[in-house]
Amino acid sequence: MGQVHVLEHPLIQHKLTIMRSKDTPTKEFRELVQEVAMLMAYEITRDLPLAPIAIETPVAPTVAKVIHGKTLAIVPVLRAGLGMADGILQLIPNAKVGHVGLYRDPETLEPVEYYCKLPQQMDLREVIVVDPMLATGGSASAAIEAVKRRGSTSVKLMCLVSAPDGIARVQRDHPDVDIYVASIDERLNDHGYIVPGLGDAGDRLYGTK
Ligand code: URA
Repeated sequence: MGQVHVLEHPLIQHKLTIMRSKDTPTKEFRELVQEVAMLMAYEITRDLPLAPIAIETPVAPTVAKVIHGKTLAIVPVLRAGLGMADGILQLIPNAKVGHVGLYRDPETLEPVEYYCKLPQQMDLREVIVVDPMLATGGSASAAIEAVKRRGSTSVKLMCLVSAPDGIARVQRDHPDVDIYVASIDERLNDHGYIVPGLGDAGDRLYGTK
């Protein structure tokens, strides 16, 4: 079973609280999504392997550490995931970025893939699927399925706010995937919104309604 990591760092929690407030305007909300995503990426990448390389400082030759092994791919789920990807890229500018677009079938209510463009060699990459809100888990599960179908074997899911239902769904569908969130909120309401949540993340990021 994939583990659930709630990232309790005070900076993450403080910024998330400001994002939750309905009075936080679009510009500030967008900046905060990026900042929190960057801080979360710092935590998520703690276990990246390092390897020694020989370099010369201005003072002496030495052996120092660099990140080694699988290269990263960030895969935001359109559209709200884009705001998080921008933040992660500030910390890991060399990461490749793929995109997955999903819409909800009005009859089955299940997510349907309408767009998927991923970097080459997904089988060799450490993949972080990003979506701010893990509500029912349907989209996150479908996005993970999309990257696995293209060869990924090492996938993490990173969300800002989650509901217990969403976590259970991803754990059921993808027991190999670790989930990283800043909060596990109480529940979903009748409209599928996370309570207390922060509203519609896409609308709040882009000033739409
Ligand atoms: N998507 C959102 O943007 N917000 C929610 O609360 C649930 C799903």
